[in-house]
Amino acid sequence: MTDMLKIADLHVEAGGREILKGVDLTIKEGETAVLFGPNGSGKSTLLASIMGYSTMTVTQGTITFMGTDITELPVDERAKLGIGMMMQRPPNIFGVKLGDLIKASSDNGEAVIQEAQDFKMQNFIDREINVGFSGGEIKRSELLQLTAQRPEFILLDEPESGVDLENIDLIGQKVHDLLFREAENGKRHVSSLVITHTGQIMDYIDADCGYVMKKGHIVKSGRPDGILKDIRENGYGEEE
Ligand SMILES: Nc1ncnc2c1ncn2[C@@H]1O[C@H](COP(=O)(O)OP(=O)(O)OP(=O)(O)O)[C@@H](O)[C@H]1O
Ligand SMILES: [Mg+2]
Repeated sequence: MTDMLKIADLHVEAGGREILKGVDLTIKEGETAVLFGPNGSGKSTLLASIMGYSTMTVTQGTITFMGTDITELPVDERAKLGIGMMMQRPPNIFGVKLGDLIKASSDNGEAVIQEAQDFKMQNFIDREINVGFSGGEIKRSELLQLTAQRPEFILLDEPESGVDLENIDLIGQKVHDLLFREAENGKRHVSSLVITHTGQIMDYIDADCGYVMKKGHIVKSGRPDGILKDIRENGYGEEE
């Protein structure tokens, strides 16, 4: 399998502090990776750095996507290359309706809007993006947007967090559809990096590998279920 994403010795600063302190991570085509780690360890910073948010400053190292060095590329160029992200706390976008963003981000936008009912989002199409949305509504809205964008590499920052027990199944199924939509003859194409604290989302995605981040480093990798079990039993070790 070819490498879809390759991160080498990545150092990232935000707000004048070094947050990522030399991250190495490779995700192959069709691979689903889950990322664990204590609060404040740098997980969201890693995702934001892969997506190219301007609040993150890469001071050392490289991010390569499908053989192209994207370390210096702006976020829109990365989106065009096929990277998409569900943020932990996306901003309110005043003045832009959810339906208009969906239409703008896909040739297939009208069809995706027809699908909104499956996401329980049919009454949100004419609302400003995220403005007044509840926590769970934001998650469903982000997934609907990703469904329109159809990225090849999908970054999910705690997709199940704050979602009630009834809606977790909906979120899980939609995440599964996004990640496995182009699976043919058992061969997957879409790759993903998914942050989770509880591991609940792993009931819906067949994760291939797991990583633990602590203090801006990847400190452990292995089988996702084994890592989750170890965290449940032993925690993350020393206090941050
Ligand atoms: N713009 C910024 N300015 C200052 N500090 C920042 C900035 N962005 C992130 N940080 C700090 O970097 C650290 C890592 O943050 P990050 O959001 O990546 O953690 P996380 O692993 O996603 O945690 P959580 O599990 O709580 O979501 C935190 O201490 C955070 O306060
Ligand atoms: Mg986070």
